[in-house]
Parts: sequence; structure tokens; C-alpha cells
Amino acid sequence: MGINLTFLGHAGFLLSDGKHTVAIDPFLTDNPVATMTPEDVHCQAIVVTHGHADHMGDTVAIAKANNATVFGANEIAECVGSQGITTEPGNPGGKIAAEFGWVAFTQAFHSSSYNGQYMGMPCGAMVHLGGVTVYHLGDTTLFGDMKLIGEIYQPDIALIPIGDRFTMGPELATRAAELVKPKVAVPMHYRTWPLLLQDPSGFTPKGMEVKVLEPGETWQYQ
Ligand code: NI
Ligand code: MN
Repeated sequence: MGINLTFLGHAGFLLSDGKHTVAIDPFLTDNPVATMTPEDVHCQAIVVTHGHADHMGDTVAIAKANNATVFGANEIAECVGSQGITTEPGNPGGKIAAEFGWVAFTQAFHSSSYNGQYMGMPCGAMVHLGGVTVYHLGDTTLFGDMKLIGEIYQPDIALIPIGDRFTMGPELATRAAELVKPKVAVPMHYRTWPLLLQDPSGFTPKGMEVKVLEPGETWQYQ
């Protein structure tokens, strides 16, 4: 049991257990740090945390090319579902069973719209496959229930935004990681544009490994 985790740059990741591949927030077109194109992504499922363009990204194109199922908040599912894509709508609090394992959405303190259209509640996403639980925090600031979420789901890996301004910066992200208590914390949502923090060195949570991934890099966990 184990997974390969590929960083697509910004907040995008691919999780693969060798049999199934799940993409999270696959934003590649117009992503200045991306090393892959949407055509390079082969997956059965796509999880979208919220509607902003740097997270919806290439979801529709990749879903169409791969006949992949999109997991997202109800409004996101309606939006992509109207374009002929198979969806699994959800919202914070519920668990969605999948062929590869399951997805559960958690709360995030942020906003969520696409081309001016309301996209429901912004979410974090808990994704379980290959016996590994990955918590993608989405775009969010710090909140105390991260501790509770960590206790309930006991994620192995947490993908944590550190880029500041629109999400937590390194100081708050360090506190977030220490509340969630994953085995490994991976910083994300930084360095993509000049507006975001460029350097992950201030992200220093105690009691876990910090794994810094470069865009395009694949890391094998377990
Ligand atoms: Ni956002
Ligand atoms: Mn974002």
C-alpha cells in the first residue's frame, strides 16, 4: 500500500496507487510554474476544492479527455455536469465512496466563484486511496477545527497553502499543520506569481516531516 504524489505546481496534485489516479485542482494552462500540460494528465477522478480559476483550472478538458468523474461542491458539480461530465456532488460533512476509496469535503475559510458565478462553499478535501489519506486544505485561513478534522481523519499527508495574501502565510500555515498533525506536510499555493510568497523556509511545523516538492516532481509515499 502506498501512493505516488505528483505536484503539478500551485495547488494541483496527482495521487496514484498504481491502479487509480486522482487529480486535485489541476490548473496547468496559464500556470507559469507548470511543467505538464492537460494532455499529460491521465486520471479517473478529479477533486475540485473550490471554483476559482487557479483550482478549477483544466478540470473540464481533463475530465472530457479521460472520461473522469469530478468530485466537488454541489454548485461546481452542476457547473461541470452541465458540460456533459460525470459528477459526484458533495459538501462539507459527507463522505463519498469511490472506486479508489473515498472523498470527504471539509470546511475552508475562503470564497468560491467561477466567471462571476457562485460555486458553493469553498472546501478542503480528504482523499483516501492506496491505504493513504491525503488532506488538501484548499484555499483557507487558519481555523481551530483543523484540530478536530485531524483527529477524525488522521491524514497521513497534508497539502497546506503557505503563499499568504489569499490564504495562510507560513506562520499561520505552520500553526495549521501543528493542529492537523499529519505525518508529512507539503507546502503549496506559493511562488506561482509575484503576489504570492516565494520561499517555503518559514514553514516550520514541529512533529512532522516537511516535504517540499518542485512542480513536476513525483514523490513515493510508503
Ligand atoms: Ni481561491
Ligand atoms: Mn487559489
